[in-house]
Amino acid sequence: MSAPTQRFGLNRRHFLQLSTLGLGIGAMATLAGCAGSDGREPLDTVGQVDFRNPLHVPPLAPAVEKDGQRVFDLVTEAGQTEIVSGGKADTWGVNGAFLGPTLRVRRGEEIRINVSNALDEPTTLHWHGMRLPAAADGGPHQMVEPGATWSPSWTIDQPAATLWYHPHPHGQTERHVYKGLGGMFLIDDDEETALNLPRDYGVDDIPLIVQDKTFSGNGQLVETGRIGVGMLGGTVLVNGTAAPVLDVVAEHTRLRLLNASSARSYNFGFSDDRTFTMIASDGGLLTAPAPLSRIMLTPGERAEIIVTAVPGETVTLRSYSQDLGVSNARAAESGSLDTLDIIELQAASVLMPAAPIPAKLGSAAYPDPALAGDMQMFQLGDNVINSKHMDMDRIDLEVKAGSTQAWAVFNAHNQPHNFHIHDVQFQILTVDNKPPPPELAGWKDTVYVPPGVTVRLLMQFGKLADPVVPYMYHCHLLWHEDMGMMGQFLVVDA
Ligand code: C2O
Ligand code: CU
Ligand code: CU
Repeated sequence: MSAPTQRFGLNRRHFLQLSTLGLGIGAMATLAGCAGSDGREPLDTVGQVDFRNPLHVPPLAPAVEKDGQRVFDLVTEAGQTEIVSGGKADTWGVNGAFLGPTLRVRRGEEIRINVSNALDEPTTLHWHGMRLPAAADGGPHQMVEPGATWSPSWTIDQPAATLWYHPHPHGQTERHVYKGLGGMFLIDDDEETALNLPRDYGVDDIPLIVQDKTFSGNGQLVETGRIGVGMLGGTVLVNGTAAPVLDVVAEHTRLRLLNASSARSYNFGFSDDRTFTMIASDGGLLTAPAPLSRIMLTPGERAEIIVTAVPGETVTLRSYSQDLGVSNARAAESGSLDTLDIIELQAASVLMPAAPIPAKLGSAAYPDPALAGDMQMFQLGDNVINSKHMDMDRIDLEVKAGSTQAWAVFNAHNQPHNFHIHDVQFQILTVDNKPPPPELAGWKDTVYVPPGVTVRLLMQFGKLADPVVPYMYHCHLLWHEDMGMMGQFLVVDA
């Protein structure tokens, strides 16, 4: 097959600025990689990104109705993409050369996804945040060989949310995501639809897949050295677009933020420090809107925010430095002292009027803590969980189908780590023995765990048992995951 080619609206007039920036930062990241833990200077790209390229909005994946199922066809493939100036990058994508379409489904629907692998190596697609049978999960036990097609099906049975999909081959996840495999997976339901919220996809409801990369002078994607958290890039792409501009057409725009980066955490805020309204976390709507001026997302996490614009204005979404709770040297090395301009929002001179954001959002149908048995303990170490590296042949834990459990996750290491659990959305009971702030009080499937801190989680497992095929829990810093910071659990009959 011929390699598809894609362009993400790169404006040729701005080759020079982009390549200068990309090269400088690439070189710096490489130096930092060689210098070890004492070498990395914080990056600051404020005012240096020449925002010129229209934001690419991933198309909605088409589906057909067949035998009572909605059927999607996805193909993982290699191609070439002109992302920054200087030349094309060798990239991977789903139904295209780079990234993939947005899957959109409704609660109650039965779906089937045909995943065909046109790459020349095995991969998987995992539906991050989804409640589903273990055999449909797309984890490391559901490898799709080159030329093969894998066709999981399940019934959507969870609230409206912004989920995503990405490859999950054991030991190779970071590289496969970095090359471009992944996309958004949106769930709608009646509860969310009844609320007066922006939901016109690509118009006032915009997915923002945020990924940091490093490019060579000729536009090639570069895998840099890894220290600490893993690969950090100085060029931030949104939906695959470098230096992106979003045309804002409404007073209220819903941004579905996804940190799909390997290692970098972002502390999102606007260049004028304006307040925005967070309406949803990983697993769906918060119970009430949360006014914020910053939202931190570590790899894998999502947040839906509504930003209010006035006609004709321009404002930049930025990542500010963040407190990961690590030493100063580690903070620099982890990228948490970086300040990065991400996307410019340009408001039209006339904006669609917006209704006020509803004061009540999701119903708080959280699990009953009284039903949880003994607290299950997880200790995060140096690429290990509970002192063990991932072993594909070892089951670390069995849980009863439908059971409610409390898990305590303690970061005993001096590095940043987060924790993601497949098949469930959890509620955060405490962070360092304190109740969670509003942005962490809703449904979550991935949570940051600072060094020396315990995060307590409450969740109810799915009712679908499988005595053989496990689900995963792991650090979502993808290099850590690949290095073995992952464990497996079975959901078994009660
Ligand atoms: Cu987003 Cu186990 O993955
Ligand atoms: Cu997942
Ligand atoms: Cu980690």
